[in-house]
Amino acid sequence: MQQPRTTPVMNMSFHEEGFNQDPFPMLEEIRRAGPIVYNEQLDRWMVTAYPHVSRVLGDSSHYAQGASEAFVDFFGGTTMETIDEPERHNAMRGIWAADFQRGSLEGQRALVERVVADQLDPFVERLRSGETVDAVADLTRSIPTLVIASMLGIETAMFAQFSAWSDAMGAITEGALDPTEKGMETVMAGRQATAELNAYIAAQVADRRAHPSDDLIGKMVAAPFAQTQMSEVEIIASNTQLVFAGNETTAKLMAHTLVSLAAHPDQRRMLAGDRSLVLPAIEEVHRSETITQFIDRDVREEVELAGVRLAPGAVVTPLQGAANRDPERWDRPGDFDITRAARQHLGFGFGLHSCIGLNLARLEVQVWLDRLLDLLPEYHITEEVDYGPNFQLRGPFAVFMAA
Ligand code: HEM
Repeated sequence: MQQPRTTPVMNMSFHEEGFNQDPFPMLEEIRRAGPIVYNEQLDRWMVTAYPHVSRVLGDSSHYAQGASEAFVDFFGGTTMETIDEPERHNAMRGIWAADFQRGSLEGQRALVERVVADQLDPFVERLRSGETVDAVADLTRSIPTLVIASMLGIETAMFAQFSAWSDAMGAITEGALDPTEKGMETVMAGRQATAELNAYIAAQVADRRAHPSDDLIGKMVAAPFAQTQMSEVEIIASNTQLVFAGNETTAKLMAHTLVSLAAHPDQRRMLAGDRSLVLPAIEEVHRSETITQFIDRDVREEVELAGVRLAPGAVVTPLQGAANRDPERWDRPGDFDITRAARQHLGFGFGLHSCIGLNLARLEVQVWLDRLLDLLPEYHITEEVDYGPNFQLRGPFAVFMAA
């Protein structure tokens, strides 16, 4: 479709060397160029303002889940994340919706506390004994993985294998951005892990049919909608996708929290003394750093956005990290301030596909941060943090910590 001449155009890649280390100045440049900016190099329409980003994410009748085919191929079947038809999406999501509500998740608090203590206490001991340890490899990644393993009803003897599958699967997004042989190997290993996890989940699904149970796999297997309207591959893919969606993301939120609080020791001390600030602090880390920096959407039928008519098939890229620093919505958006008045950010998405696991992620990070502040309020980060190339799921590669 012919675009008006006034539409700003920029030429840039999100994967350029160093871009992801500090993408915020470039996001501001895009914002200054206009409310909707055509990226010639990526053939995408970039959107930065909070109202426009939420409009795109909230209007699934005009904007379809982007890259759906790649997701389906990856997980082996459609899941709630790849279905835009509201009735089918909501029926699938509805199977687990109650389990992820804040109230019912209180029933998982003891589990989360146990997992956090098991992982955090030995980590802190190592730091206290003088070691410098990478918190990403040795702490944050394991916590969400072990929590979701328990919620799915995975047997304890399989936890180490389950974590290895989850880590290898999560590494795919990084590997895909690495053009070297190592990147290719990471992707292949991740695909292999996903296939093995799918096979394992398939056996678990069969087991729950024979022995009904109250875990997440058991609940899906017993749900009338799954029994009558979902194929076997959709049931398996839905469980695998849950593992993928929740683990890297939550681990990255913990890693960002470590870095943000280390960079702001006064606020960290305030937080250690006033735990009512823990949840607001986690939201402020998420707002200001934003893990899912963008999600692509495909235009389904012609639609107007910020004065530009978009043709069917056009790709729109809502930049959530930019929306979360929109100066029209937040004062001093670049400042980290845990005492900010609460306002919803878009780090968990918005609309039909908004994150089903957001309350679980918040609970895990809250329990973990509370205990960290009890055990080690004055930790140090010993090396400059490398954010790698993954702008879509942005987070520290490693966080080396010392007591
Ligand atoms: C800090 C941690 C997390 C972040 C940043 C995050 C981010 C997101 C975002 C941005 C979306 C929307 C995707 C879209 O619009 O296409 C999403 C969807 C989703 N998330 Fe999360 N997520 C997190 C934790 C979790 C956890 C713990 C789980 C489950 C255990 C989970 C499961 C899902 C699922 C199943 C969807 C698809 C929902 C649907 O399509 O209806 N996420 N997440």
